[in-house]
Formats: sequence, structure tokens, C-alpha cells
Amino acid sequence: MDIKLDYSNLKGFVSTKDIEGLLPAIQKAHNDLENKAGKGSAFTGWLDLPARLQDSFLDEIVEFGKAIRQDSDCLLSIGIGGSYLGIHATLEFLIADQKLPVYFAGQDLSTNYLYYLLQGLKDKRITVVVISKSGTTTEPALAFRIIKKFMEEQYSAMELKKRIICITDPCDGALRAIASKAGYRVFPIDRDIGGRFSVLTTAGLVPLSIAGIDIKGLIQGARSAQRSCSRMDLEANIAYQYAAARFLLYQQGKTIEVLSTFYRRLALVEEWWKQLFGESEGKDGKGLFPTSLSFTTDLHSMGQLVQEGPRNMFETFLLVDKPGCGMTIPEDPDNLDNFNCVAGKDLDYVNKQAWVATATAHYEGGVPNMTIMVPRFDSYSLGQLFYFFEKTVAIKGYLLGVNPFDQPGVEAYKKKLFELLGRK
Ligand code: PA5
Repeated sequence: MDIKLDYSNLKGFVSTKDIEGLLPAIQKAHNDLENKAGKGSAFTGWLDLPARLQDSFLDEIVEFGKAIRQDSDCLLSIGIGGSYLGIHATLEFLIADQKLPVYFAGQDLSTNYLYYLLQGLKDKRITVVVISKSGTTTEPALAFRIIKKFMEEQYSAMELKKRIICITDPCDGALRAIASKAGYRVFPIDRDIGGRFSVLTTAGLVPLSIAGIDIKGLIQGARSAQRSCSRMDLEANIAYQYAAARFLLYQQGKTIEVLSTFYRRLALVEEWWKQLFGESEGKDGKGLFPTSLSFTTDLHSMGQLVQEGPRNMFETFLLVDKPGCGMTIPEDPDNLDNFNCVAGKDLDYVNKQAWVATATAHYEGGVPNMTIMVPRFDSYSLGQLFYFFEKTVAIKGYLLGVNPFDQPGVEAYKKKLFELLGRK
């Protein structure tokens, strides 16, 4: 795997020896996960998913995506949580590869957002993908109702069968029933993979393929991470190192983890990460509070709190080694701003110096930090990153003693809302 983890800025908080001391607990977590003997093991289908996905299946999805793209001006992707965040994060990360505009709906209940979205889509050839694992979630269900009516006003029933695609449970749920009745194309989501772990299933691959993303590259990256992150070798397995460091910091009262990035194109990866880590760990009165900052923008606002606020947090920097798109800083003969010191350098050189400066200042201010370095903004790197984070949170959940694969708190809200709406 090409992703690197540097935890030298944990010195004085967590040492390599401390991490090695966790070896027996990590070994147990590893065994429980691999042998499907731990909590929530019925939802660990993501563990060997990259290796399990057949190349012929991926080829089919690529061809399917190509055919839909040729007949569409845009894709409207309906979904929330795990049926939304991974897709949006991927499109932001791989913006340069996207071949079709993608719009999102059903990720909240904002009327004005949906109103103006649909206004802007009139006269466009639209393909709609509705993604809901359960098939019953309020936000995407209601967005789909509204959008289905909007589509019915523009297309014949025959045409709608090509333009509406549903991705849901293989057997159950309201969305499956709607699709069966209307004859929409359905892709099943693996039953043994929960929403937040589903980005590399059909839930992510189908819409991403329609958008023109290199889904085979994503899966190849994930396969490489699966190989590296399956090794019970603490020195080589950075997912286990990251899980151990997070666990030890949490035990020291560092209850907040800030994921800080220096690239805008990682902002949605941060959101995906928050769902993955927050939903997996936050239960039974336990769990790190995962939050995120976008630097250097937030250094001019929240940077103050990180530097000098309560010492209950640690930071994980997420960086890209070679972000591409060179931007040379020009020489200025007047040099009135005094920045000729960096003339001729790439803007990313300054960004990386800002990271070093921030990591050092925060460390000296009592905020231990780690850095995850991703090689490039490409599908292979992103596939690795997704799998690396999934593996980390599974091991960390087991270290913590929780079931990292359920989300009873999310279900509680869904149930209460149904009651308030009078939905049976
Ligand atoms: O992780 C989860 O299971 C949830 O956060 C879901 O992703 C989210 O609630 C959407 O659920 P569904 O895909 O069933 O509509």
C-alpha cells in the first residue's frame, strides 16, 4: 500500500512501545474480525469485498455506466448517510475524472435546495439513481416521491424504466417494492455490508461508473489495502497502528479527533470519515468525537481553539503527496509584499510548509498529531484510503469493546420521526 502514516508527533503521549503493548488486544481484535467471531460479525462483508469482486462484474458496471452516460445530460443521485457520502466524497476527490454532472437529493429535507435543483434540471436529459439500503429512510423516500413525479411529467412510463435505477436490499424494503411494480432496474446491495461501509458495493460503484469514474482503479486500490491491512504485523500494518494510537489517546482523555486537511478536494472525504468513525464508535457511552477542519482556511478561525483551547483533542492530518495541477508563484520585481522568497516555487510547496508549521505549533501547544499521506488524487489512492479507514475503525471498535457495525442511535431517530409523521 502506498499510503503512509507518520506518528512522530505523538512523542510524549504515545510511543511505539505503548503501541506494541497493545499487541495482545490487537491480535484478539484481528482474530475476532477475520474469524467472524466478534460483535456484529454478520455485517463484515466489506472485509474481503475488494478481493471478492469479480473483474467481469466490474466490466459490466463500467459498460452499464457508459451506456447510461451516453443518454444523459446529468445524473441525479438520491440518498443519505452511507448511500450518499461516499459517492460525493469520491466525486470531489476525483473531480478531474468526472464525465457527467452529478446532483444530489435526499441528503436532507431542505425545500429550497430541492426546489432550485429541480428548476435547474428542467429540459435536461436526467437519469435518477435512488440508493437506500433499507429502502425506507424518510429523506430519500420523500425526495424520490417528488422527483418521480417531476420525471413522470417529462417522460413516458417506458422511458422511465431506463431513466430510474434503484439500488437497495436484495429482497426487502419499500424501494424494492416500488421498483418491482414500476419495472425499474434494480441493483442489490450486499446484505452483510452496512451503509457506511458500502461505498465499494453497487451503492457506490453504479452511480460512480455512470459519472465516468474509474471504478476498477478504486477496487484495485482497495485490494492492495486489503492485502496490507490484513497482516497481523504491527510494524507493517498502518491501519492497526492508527487504531492503536487512537485508542491510547482516547484512554488519556483525548476524546476529540480532528481530521485536518490542506486540500479542498478532501472536504467530502472528511464528511464520509465522520460518518464511518462516528457511527461505528459512538455507542454504549463510548467513542471518540470525530470532527474535521479544512486548512489553511480554518487556521484563521478554529485554529485558535485547537492551539489554545481545552487539551482534550488530538489531530490527524490528511494530506496528498503529489496533488498535481502545478501553480508556480511568479517573481515580482517590486516585491512589495515581500514574498519573492517563494518566487519560482509551487503553491503546494507553501501548503506543505503550512502543514509542517501547523503540526509543530499544535504539538507544542499540547495537541498530539499524526499524518496520513495519500500519494495522489487518483482512484487507486482513494480505494486504498477507503479500505484503510474501514479496517482501522473495525479494529478500534473491537479494542473499545463496542459493535462497530450497528447504528442503533440512527435507528432511534428514524423510528421517532416515523411516529411523529404517523407512518406505520
Ligand atoms: O450507516 C448507516 O447504516 C446509516 O447511516 C445509513 O447509511 C443511512 O441512514 C441511510 O440508510 P439507507 O441507505 O437505508 O437509506
